[in-house]
Amino acid sequence: MKAAYIQQTGPPECIVVGELPPPTPGPTEVLVRVTAAAVNPIDTYIRNGAHYWDLPRPFIVGCDLAGVVERVGERVRRFVPGDRVWGSNQGLLGRQGTFAEYCAVDECWLYPTPPGVDDQVVAALALVGITAHLGLFREAVLQPGQTIGVRGGTGGVGSVVIQMAKLAGGRVIATGGSAAKVARCRELGADAAVNYRTEDLASALRQFAPDGVDVFWETLREPDFDEIVGYLAERGKIVLMAGRDARPPFPVGPFYVKGCSLHGFVMFKASPDEQRVCAEDINRWLRERKLTANISHVLPLAEAARAHRLQEESTVHKSGEVAGKIVVLP
Ligand SMILES: NC(=O)c1ccc[n+]([C@@H]2O[C@H](COP(=O)([O-])OP(=O)(O)OC[C@H]3O[C@@H](n4cnc5c(N)ncnc54)[C@H](OP(=O)(O)O)[C@@H]3O)[C@@H](O)[C@H]2O)c1
Repeated sequence: MKAAYIQQTGPPECIVVGELPPPTPGPTEVLVRVTAAAVNPIDTYIRNGAHYWDLPRPFIVGCDLAGVVERVGERVRRFVPGDRVWGSNQGLLGRQGTFAEYCAVDECWLYPTPPGVDDQVVAALALVGITAHLGLFREAVLQPGQTIGVRGGTGGVGSVVIQMAKLAGGRVIATGGSAAKVARCRELGADAAVNYRTEDLASALRQFAPDGVDVFWETLREPDFDEIVGYLAERGKIVLMAGRDARPPFPVGPFYVKGCSLHGFVMFKASPDEQRVCAEDINRWLRERKLTANISHVLPLAEAARAHRLQEESTVHKSGEVAGKIVVLP
């Protein structure tokens, strides 16, 4: 099968697109013929040698996938050949990734693709959709009428946070780095959107929520807690899911006197049952046409290295070139 893989970690050029033997599904695994995959920033950190865990060699990159069930292991109960499926959480914790024509995935990480929903859409929503759901509903427990500030409203995660927060009855203010990104935040449902390059976020937030926001979702890898705690209402919550190497100062007094809380998490440590709760809501909203993927680029598998470079340049080096998800087609 065709696959995008690395033999050793390093820059995007380490990715080889070539032939590998297709995987054989284990007893609880489903062999998926992959029709769409998507890039996430973590793919680039792993490829670059972050070494969160040992990698299989060769290591196929990628966490997200959509496709069609080709074959199932003898203990698989949820799926049969021909089913359309999507999923995430591959390429992590030592598992092989999804950037290939075929991928063997434990059935616990797969969900049915709703009829009429494009494979590119479910692939692009997979990891970021589960992340947004965990952060909003397991961590922040967002309530109808509450206010939320989303930094990075057109990003992979932020674009889903805006939509899900609106579906939960929240009032959303989001940031974008250009006029087009601000307009896109509004299209995704944000009640207010701020160009952080040309406008003052603090005053826009004060106008939007004079007593502070109930939740602030930080997507930056260098959070400034002095700034964020200043944005929060009494008992405000910060959702944090990026910046492993960040060691910023923390305003202890302002934080606890306001009764604030800080919610950090990684999606890949959520259990299969927790992730399925997210996926079922995602599927329901997709069926109801209330949720969409914010797709920025669609590239063939042969351009996997370019896809990684674009993602890395955008997320790590802040090029601004990507506005949402990069989908890769095997
Ligand atoms: N913990 C987890 O489970 C989990 C899950 C998913 C992602 N993550 C991490 O979360 C981070 C975001 O992921 P993602 O997929 O959403 O990445 P992304 O698509 O690259 O989005 C990053 C966002 O950051 C914004 N941004 C960059 N510089 C900014 C600045 N100076 N001020 C304000 N906004 C700025 C960008 O906005 P503009 O384009 O408008 O500049 C963009 O919307 C990554 O570090 C990723 O590794 C963690």
